[in-house]
Amino acid sequence: MEIKVYKNAEEIGKAAGQLYVDYINANPSCVLGFATGASPVPTYDYIAESYKQGKVSLKGVSTFNLDEYCDIPREHKNSYYTFMCENLFSRTDIDMANVDFLDGNADPDEESARYAAAIKAKGGIDIQLLGIGRNGHIAFNEPGDEFTDEAWKVTLTQSTIDANSIYFDDIPMPRYALTMGIGSIMRSKKIIMIATGESKAQAVKDMIKGPVTPACPASILQQHGDALIFLDEAAAKLL
Ligand code: GLP
Repeated sequence: MEIKVYKNAEEIGKAAGQLYVDYINANPSCVLGFATGASPVPTYDYIAESYKQGKVSLKGVSTFNLDEYCDIPREHKNSYYTFMCENLFSRTDIDMANVDFLDGNADPDEESARYAAAIKAKGGIDIQLLGIGRNGHIAFNEPGDEFTDEAWKVTLTQSTIDANSIYFDDIPMPRYALTMGIGSIMRSKKIIMIATGESKAQAVKDMIKGPVTPACPASILQQHGDALIFLDEAAAKLL
């Protein structure tokens, strides 16, 4: 793991965003794994702004997202699909035919097999972006007894529901989600994790300094050969 500590979320957005811009310019048909949540937003802003300024094009880029809620339509304002459209896709020239997403309303086993095959057909994910949950979850892989492999249907924990339900003002937050498994994430050639704010400090410490255990799913990143961790000072506080 390579750890980089920045003053704040905005500085991370610039550094991680520039890394993406450089990577896409060098590899215009790359395969990127994207994440939702507040943590990657400054990075998405930077990429979108770079596109606006003519410094990068996402025309040839293919994407896969980490996870999606079950039991809400894809077009719902709180779906992760909508989140990605609003925060990145609609702000760039990405070809939506190259955007793949887990369908939270599909049969979980069939959808998992479809997604794994689709990722394989593209040659795997070049860079997977991750955030971290306050309980150490990555994507929606909650703390558990074993590390998962391909995409699966997860029952969200109370900690995640408490953290994410602030975004749901018209319907209750879904209790289930489809998520890429830990195995799928670990097969990505490079991983970039962004963690900001004091509420992530304990999870960050467990991820970096603790044992590799499914009780802290993010701790598996210790075993990835190319994992770059961007932290702000608050998230790095307990290191
Ligand atoms: C959700 C997502 C995760 C994300 C986490 C942290 O649970 N499924 O992929 O990493 O939230 O989100 P935030 O960046 O908003 O703290």
